[in-house]
Amino acid sequence: MNVLNALQARHSTRVFRSEPIPRDTVLSIVGAALLSPSWTNTQPWEVFVAGGEPLERLRSAYLDRFHAGVAPTPDIPGVTDWPSALQQRAVELMTARSALLGLDLKRPDDKKAFGLPNYRFFGAPLVVFLGMHSNLTGWPLYDLGSFSMALMLAAQQYGVSSVPAFSLSVYPDLIRTELEVPEEVAVALGIALGYPDEEATLNSFRSTRRPFDDVVRLRGL
Ligand SMILES: Cc1cc2nc3c(=O)[nH]c(=O)nc-3n(C[C@H](O)[C@H](O)[C@H](O)COP(=O)(O)O)c2cc1C
Repeated sequence: MNVLNALQARHSTRVFRSEPIPRDTVLSIVGAALLSPSWTNTQPWEVFVAGGEPLERLRSAYLDRFHAGVAPTPDIPGVTDWPSALQQRAVELMTARSALLGLDLKRPDDKKAFGLPNYRFFGAPLVVFLGMHSNLTGWPLYDLGSFSMALMLAAQQYGVSSVPAFSLSVYPDLIRTELEVPEEVAVALGIALGYPDEEATLNSFRSTRRPFDDVVRLRGL
């Protein structure tokens, strides 16, 4: 698989089989992501790879909190004031994905059913949590983004699917305890990895992209 194949094949997978990813494969994928560029090679990423029993304990604790309706307390807050065009795209995404599952997000029970897979980590056998020093804001998140994409593309090479998810980082105290995340590290994101359940309706979902000509301004070529 070349890089273009990997880019075309990657999409967010939200239903994984429980089959574990071989340890050597995990190490190769994470090792490839470590080649990512960063501002003055600061390499701000701190990486916590969770599988097996630690991940199962974490998953169970996340589900308990979700069912108890415990409010998220992410170390790095999500965006609350998207510009209207971006907000509209987010709504379109959520509407299309929920419609595929026959869920109506205006109904509280359906909204909960829609959110639930996040808190069970989509059934993934592995989650890579990314963090950075809590003093950092802004640019280093770009570097974590580069790391994330490299990780997901490298995963494709091994037939491993992925989904990057803010929702996996919303109870950082649980992650901190289970994965021994140092106090000064802010948890940014989790990337769930595994082999896709090909039968799952949700995995047939494909997000759209803005048209090339709406996004890209060409001059001089
Ligand atoms: C920073 C970031 C946070 C995300 N958080 C979530 C999340 O919490 N739950 C989820 O299901 N998907 C999440 N996603 C996945 C996006 O919804 C997805 O990448 C987008 O809709 C494009 O679809 P694609 O990945 O299939 O190309 C996140 C993606 C990124 C980059």
